[in-house]
Amino acid sequence: MTSTATRPRGARARAAIAAKTLRTDRWWFAPLITVIGLSAWVAYATVRVFMHKWYWVDEFHYLTPFYSPCVTERCVEGSSHFGSFLPGWWIIPDAALTLPFLLLFRLTCYYYRKAYYRSFWLSPPACAVPDGHAEYSGETRFPLLGQNLHRYFFYAAAIISLINTWDAIIAFHSPEGFGFGLGNIILLVNVVALWAYTISCHSCRHIIGGRLKHFSKHPVRYRAWTFVSALNVRHMQLAWITLGTLALTDFYVMAIAADWFPDLRFIN
Ligand code: FES
Repeated sequence: MTSTATRPRGARARAAIAAKTLRTDRWWFAPLITVIGLSAWVAYATVRVFMHKWYWVDEFHYLTPFYSPCVTERCVEGSSHFGSFLPGWWIIPDAALTLPFLLLFRLTCYYYRKAYYRSFWLSPPACAVPDGHAEYSGETRFPLLGQNLHRYFFYAAAIISLINTWDAIIAFHSPEGFGFGLGNIILLVNVVALWAYTISCHSCRHIIGGRLKHFSKHPVRYRAWTFVSALNVRHMQLAWITLGTLALTDFYVMAIAADWFPDLRFIN
């Protein structure tokens, strides 16, 4: 029998079995749920990014992360913390400066790569299940060669996390001065989750602890590396949690901006 399994040149042929796979468990469930989850999130984010409204609550200075920082001429008064220097064409996202980097950071993330290679590209869909393609070239050719740029998108994402942190700080605002409401809790939880996801990055772990011969001579880096490594174990969970907190934060800010319901205020 000729194996249909995809393999790199020089690798040994797949075992000569007639069945596509001998797995009897629900191996297809994880790829399926990944397709549904990622597709739903991308659809929601695309609609929101091109909606160009309900992203800023002037009363409490809430800004959704999908519009941060708001840099087009269309940005409503008060929402541009870093200037509005891009034209307000509808095709240009209001956060055009940061969204491409965030997208590339997630697209090149080690976890997401595994997730979408398996679910959308079926390469392979699961362990011990044949690849959906006849050939396998890995990440050695364009465009997948660009996956190696992940480290540089990490630097950009770290800067963007600082901007999101700033957004969360200036949101402690009300017409009376200082204010605190449910929106602040949601913004804070989102920013903490974003930091956890960002520093749990495999590239971050290597930047902090890589290329050292003796950890004993670098105690600070060793401690930081230990901390990041503990988070790194949860990188997949953090990848999904942050998709959830981003969508929830955006939805809450949209709801308050659109007056669907009032913000729950604890102080002012
Ligand atoms: S490996 Fe996932 S963000 Fe870097």
